[in-house]
Amino acid sequence: MTSTRLSLRSPLDLVPVLPVVVLEDATAAVPLARTLVSCGLTAIEVTLRTPAALEAVRAIAAEVPDAVVGAGTVLTTAQADAAVAAGARFLVSPGSTDLLVAAMRDTGVPFLPGVATASEAVTLLEQGITDMKFFPAQAAGGAAYLRALASPLPQVRFCPTGGITAANAPSYLSLPNVACVGGSWMLPAAAVQAGDWTTVAALARDAASLGHHAPENG
Ligand code: 3PG
Repeated sequence: MTSTRLSLRSPLDLVPVLPVVVLEDATAAVPLARTLVSCGLTAIEVTLRTPAALEAVRAIAAEVPDAVVGAGTVLTTAQADAAVAAGARFLVSPGSTDLLVAAMRDTGVPFLPGVATASEAVTLLEQGITDMKFFPAQAAGGAAYLRALASPLPQVRFCPTGGITAANAPSYLSLPNVACVGGSWMLPAAAVQAGDWTTVAALARDAASLGHHAPENG
């Protein structure tokens, strides 16, 4: 575990599909994480949008050693610090400010700040950051938009998130500047609330099988 922690450079290097989890009940965290890991989805982003989130991160970090758990929806310095203290191995934010980037960097774990425009991406490049979340992916222009950024910004790797589905994920994963996609499509709220891990497992297996597609030309 320690060696994986030391060698994790970026969440983008882990798996092509990053499940984005919103948990109302921390007791669901461990069975949920075990289900995802058993289906091949070993990196898990728990969003800090619910009171249960930090406890969920703590439980997964402690009890599911094969999972690489991170925290999403990180908006403040305090959240970044609390998430890493709870065991988060990476941090994800929907946006990026100088303050937030500094806070995430100071934690020492890899992080993905969010961007939706070329200017935002260039601002992060100026700070030496090349791995970014593209959010909200579908609403901000989708795969066509990201494809258009690849030529002027070839050094940037994106994790598009927001509106990704099993149907549109392949169009993102085929792009040269996409390392993975994030999303909650394999975690329907009703199934998670009901503890219906069979339904989650079927969707998670499909998601894990998306894998990488050959990069498109151009
Ligand atoms: C995120 O936090 O990245 C998104 O809210 C996940 O988006 P989705 O629920 O549309 O997959």
